[in-house]
Amino acid sequence: MKKITIAIDGFSSCGKSTMAKDLAKEIGYIYIDSGAMYRAVTLYSIENGLFNGKEVDTARLKEQIGQISITFQLDEQTGRPRTQLNGKDVEDRIRTMEVSSRVSIIAAIDFVRKYLVTQQQEMGKAKGIVMDGRDIGTTVFPDAELKIFVTASPEIRAERRYKELQEKGEKADFDEILANVKERDHIDQTRAVSPLRRADDAILLDNSHLTLAEQKAWLIKEYQKATEA
Ligand code: DC
Repeated sequence: MKKITIAIDGFSSCGKSTMAKDLAKEIGYIYIDSGAMYRAVTLYSIENGLFNGKEVDTARLKEQIGQISITFQLDEQTGRPRTQLNGKDVEDRIRTMEVSSRVSIIAAIDFVRKYLVTQQQEMGKAKGIVMDGRDIGTTVFPDAELKIFVTASPEIRAERRYKELQEKGEKADFDEILANVKERDHIDQTRAVSPLRRADDAILLDNSHLTLAEQKAWLIKEYQKATEA
């Protein structure tokens, strides 16, 4: 069967990563979480003192960006990729509220996006890839054969993230998470560079009231249609 490129975009915490990971596993494709790459640059910036409150020192980040290497290593136990920053596993650290509350600032910086988009395009050269993010169908892979745009209500997304953090034993405050989800939606949609928007040829999926099984079945059907085309 011919290998295609699958772009999954949408709002934060709407389950894009879970669905993209599951689909990639099922069909034997590579899965890349592009959000993890923006999160890794954010963690790097925090750890290297480039943040002053919510302000980032863009001049210093620009000088250092070439030294930031982001790779993924497959976790043998879960079969899922773990993000590595300059060779160190940062998968858990990039998911904390500290990073979540600053990542939109990093993702709005033009040279950061250029740097990461080039790497993402390189990863997708051989096709057979599922990548999720915000600008995959519009900027990274505008020619992707299958594009999905996922959405769900902010309250449902906040609840999902709340449960996720609780399960990991992390401190979680629902109102804080909801405010963070809404703030990120706003920043993602209104930033000057590559704002979050549905590509004209993307299929819309509102998964507010879908179970994971229903969503998976829907996705496999769309994949089959795209490979038959
Ligand atoms: O999907 P996520 O929540 O892990 O994404 C983290 C942040 O990175 C989010 O604020 C949006 C941004 N992002 C982006 O701007 N472009 C992408 N392709 C992926 C994520």
